[in-house]
Amino acid sequence: MQLVQDSGLNIYFDPETLRIAFVDSDAGKFQRPEYSVRTFEALSPILEDPGCVAGEEQEIVYWMYRNLGLQGNEHMVKTHSLRYDLSVFRLHRFGQELMKTSGHYHPAIWQGGPSYPEIYEVAYGTAIFLMQEVDDINAGPDSVDVSSCIALECRQGEKAIMPPNFGHVTINPDPNTPLITTNWVCSDFSSVYGGAEVCQGFAWYRTEDRGWVENPKYACEVPKLRHARCGDVPELGLVAGRGLYESGLANPELFAWLKRPYDFTQLMWQGIEFSDPDDEAWKATYVEQVDNHE
Ligand SMILES: [Fe+2]
Repeated sequence: MQLVQDSGLNIYFDPETLRIAFVDSDAGKFQRPEYSVRTFEALSPILEDPGCVAGEEQEIVYWMYRNLGLQGNEHMVKTHSLRYDLSVFRLHRFGQELMKTSGHYHPAIWQGGPSYPEIYEVAYGTAIFLMQEVDDINAGPDSVDVSSCIALECRQGEKAIMPPNFGHVTINPDPNTPLITTNWVCSDFSSVYGGAEVCQGFAWYRTEDRGWVENPKYACEVPKLRHARCGDVPELGLVAGRGLYESGLANPELFAWLKRPYDFTQLMWQGIEFSDPDDEAWKATYVEQVDNHE
């Protein structure tokens, strides 16, 4: 077992067996997290090749530990409505598709308003967060309109911002290293999975043999995929190498943007750095539009 150092918590992990241990120490005792799993069967509706799970339906693809943390820090949920979660992903390929999560959207904070954002950390391995913005998070593939798609790469220790209104899928692009992510998110809502399921996943699939391919189910024109990397945003409590749990605890008010994103549009997008200058120009226009609308 090795220490998952980048989480900043006393968590040990065996990359071979995927066993994870939350170890009590002088630094604190863990509160018992809520634990759930996703099976191959549960994921099959959003795969490029749903039939590839045949014979393995009940196998577990990933484990989610919700409301993880140290005893004595219950005020993070009770007072600040901030929940800390950790997820462990096994190594796998779905046919030619790389390991991924089911994909979901967050609901709007108020009717017609922005949806809740989220902050992820890669505590072990590498992740790509595939994000897309749609006109209706429940719509099927014949009527949904996708306005933007982003592939945000996040290396170990980095923090990945999911801005409001962007649904997200977590992909493990590394075929040799399992993945552990952690996140802080507002505890006042439940995610919406339906739209991604009826569309057979998001508008892009990441495959081993063909790279990024469009999901042919979408009747609308699928926007180009904009590639980005994660940057630090100290003003939002996000610094690579500093554990997300510790940053949240040290100053919960710094994470108020997870509940009031409309005051922090510029800063949230500052953490998403596009390699192509055209995409950076798109970002500047997008941020301006959001700020003018609110
Ligand atoms: Fe989310």
